[in-house]
Amino acid sequence: MTLAENVAVITGASSGIGRTIANTFAREGGKVAICDINMEGAEKAAAEIRAAGGDALAIEMDVTDEAAVNRGVDRVAERYGRIDTMVSNAGIQIVHPIEEFPYEQFRKLVTIHLDGSFLLTKACVKHMYPRKSGSLIYMGSVHSHEPSALKTAYVAAKHGILGLARVMAKEGAKHGVRSNTICPGFVKTPLVEKQIPEQAANLGISEEEVVNKVMLGDTVDQTFTTMEDVADVALFLASFKSNALTGQSIVPSHGWYMA
Ligand SMILES: NC(=O)c1ccc[n+]([C@@H]2O[C@H](COP(=O)([O-])OP(=O)(O)OC[C@H]3O[C@@H](n4cnc5c(N)ncnc54)[C@H](O)[C@@H]3O)[C@@H](O)[C@H]2O)c1
Repeated sequence: MTLAENVAVITGASSGIGRTIANTFAREGGKVAICDINMEGAEKAAAEIRAAGGDALAIEMDVTDEAAVNRGVDRVAERYGRIDTMVSNAGIQIVHPIEEFPYEQFRKLVTIHLDGSFLLTKACVKHMYPRKSGSLIYMGSVHSHEPSALKTAYVAAKHGILGLARVMAKEGAKHGVRSNTICPGFVKTPLVEKQIPEQAANLGISEEEVVNKVMLGDTVDQTFTTMEDVADVALFLASFKSNALTGQSIVPSHGWYMA
C-alpha cells in the first residue's frame, strides 16, 4: 500500500475534492482525519471509509477559527501519534463583478482560503518539524496562475496560497518538510455546479456557454478535470519518497494552464 501508516489531515473533506482525496488516501492504507465545518458530512465520510475497512476520524473544524484548528490538529496527533500529510483544501466560491462585490463576502472568501491555509500550516508543522518529515499540500487552482472575470476574491486568494506554499518550501526544508500546490482546472463538484447559473446571470449568456466557453474554452479537449484526477496528484505528492519535489505547483487542467 502506497500510504501505509501515513497520517493525513484533510480540510473540506466532507465533500467534493477533499472527500475523494480522503477516500483515495484511505484506500492506499493511510489514516485520514476528515476535517470540516460540516460535522454531519464529516461523520458520514469517515463512517463510509471505516465501513470499507479504512481508518478515518471526523473532526469538526472551521478553518478560520485558530483555536478550533489547533484543537483539531492536536487531536489527530494524539489519536495517531503523528501527522505526515496536510491537505489544505477547504474552500468556497463567490462570484460578482467588483462593483457589486460586498466587501464582507470578499473577506469571508479570502479568510477561509488564505487565513485557513496559514492556520492549518502553523498547527501541522508543530507536529512535523520535530519528526523532520512531512508533506504540505495546498489546494490552489488554475486561478493561482490565471485570472478570470468576476473572481477578484478567489483569484487573489488562490494566488496568495501559491505564495504561502512557496514560502513553506523554503522554511520547511531544514525540517525535512516539503510543500506543493495542486492547481486544478474546473472539476464538477457542488462548488462548481453552483457557479454555472450564477455566471450565466452575471455574464448574460446561457449555462451551456458558461460550461463550453468560460469553463472549458481554454482546455485542449473541452473536458472537465475529475475529482479522481486531483486525488491522484495528491496521492503522488503525499507518497513522493524524497524532498526533491518542493515549491512546485502541479496543474491537472486538461492543458488550460501550461506551467
Ligand atoms: N471544483 C473545482 O472546479 C475546483 C477547481 C480548482 C480548485 N478547487 C478547490 O478545491 C477545494 C475544494 O473544492 P470543491 O470543489 O471540492 O468544493 P466543495 O464545495 O464540494 O467542498 C468544499 C468543502 O469545504 C468545506 N468548508 C467550507 N468552508 C469551510 C470552513 N470555514 N472550514 C472548514 N471547512 C469548510 C465545505 O463544508 C465542503 O465540505 C477548494 O479549495 C476549491 O477552491 C476546486
